Amino acid sequence: MTTTITLTGAGGQIGYALLFRIAAGDLLGPDEKVRLRLLEIPQGLGAAEGAALELQDGAFGLLEHVEVTDDPAVGFDGCDLALLVGARPRGPGMERGDLLAANAGIFGPQGAAIAAHASSDVRVTVVGNPANTNALIAAASADGVPAERFSALTRLDENRARAQLAQTLAVPVDTVRRVPIWGNHSATQFPDVTYATVGGRPVTDALEAIVGDVPTWLDETFIPRVAKRGAEIIQVRGSSSVASAANATIEHVRDWVRGTDDWTSAAVVSYGEYGVPEGLISSFPVRSVDGEWRIVEGLEISDRARARIDASVAELVEERDAVRALGML
Ligand code: NAI
Repeated sequence: MTTTITLTGAGGQIGYALLFRIAAGDLLGPDEKVRLRLLEIPQGLGAAEGAALELQDGAFGLLEHVEVTDDPAVGFDGCDLALLVGARPRGPGMERGDLLAANAGIFGPQGAAIAAHASSDVRVTVVGNPANTNALIAAASADGVPAERFSALTRLDENRARAQLAQTLAVPVDTVRRVPIWGNHSATQFPDVTYATVGGRPVTDALEAIVGDVPTWLDETFIPRVAKRGAEIIQVRGSSSVASAANATIEHVRDWVRGTDDWTSAAVVSYGEYGVPEGLISSFPVRSVDGEWRIVEGLEISDRARARIDASVAELVEERDAVRALGML
């Protein structure tokens, strides 16, 4: 079988980190051939074409074909998996409204092109920021494509949260499970340890022995560290998170296509679960079953968690309303 994958922003940093992992089979496994469509804007075409030459030189057996284009109709033609990474970054002096508008101008037309040209069971993962609202705009513009086929990346936030817990507890990271992210992929996100386990026992019990007052540690150390990790990486590395973002994107899409055996996090369309207004694309604890994200339901939400979820969801509502006020939604 061959899967057609469209990557926008293919000439950018995350695109460069993603392409070679996809071609090597990290996304869909060693038996699935891939056809890549690299969609860029004219200024990014040279970098994408260069990456395509390097892909050729990688001599990847799974890679059937690479096409580079700046035409969304060509880029999304027959697309099974769309990775929307290309976005407009915030420039100097740019207000939040300008940023939302610039990205609505990208993700609206891309949603429409997906509806017109992609395969009928297309799955769309939005990485480009503001990811949740960009996904909302793309989904709203994709007539006839169910909103469940759009999700935005919060897996990097979850991985960061699990890694912080593992480091604090001095345990291997894969023993830390069930650390969902709620809300927006932004500084308001809520990494939630309420149901988290380490080696099968509650993380909160394990933390108590190490940090003492767990709620204070969560509020003052853990949550800000996770929420501001992107800024920390920029400060230390001198450039934003790239390989870890590409890695999280691979894990998100792989889980969506292949299914999960436990909870993970993804920003998906709300049908009112946990009081999140219907239609928003908000991060939840999810499972993936039969190629669909399913929100983990029936969890009890404490007052502390409620306040944090509400604050992040309020930000999503503001972003949606700002785009609506511009007449772009
Ligand atoms: P980058 O600036 O290196 O690359 C972006 C690429 O997108 C550029 O090559 C640009 O030409 C292209 N592009 C812009 N508009 C486009 C359009 N309309 N169609 C196709 N391509 C277009 O940025 P980088 O580091 O690769 O990051 C990409 C995005 O991912 C950013 O918005 C960043 O904020 C976001 N991000 C999201 C994360 C998440 O967890 N959701 C984590 C890290 C980054």
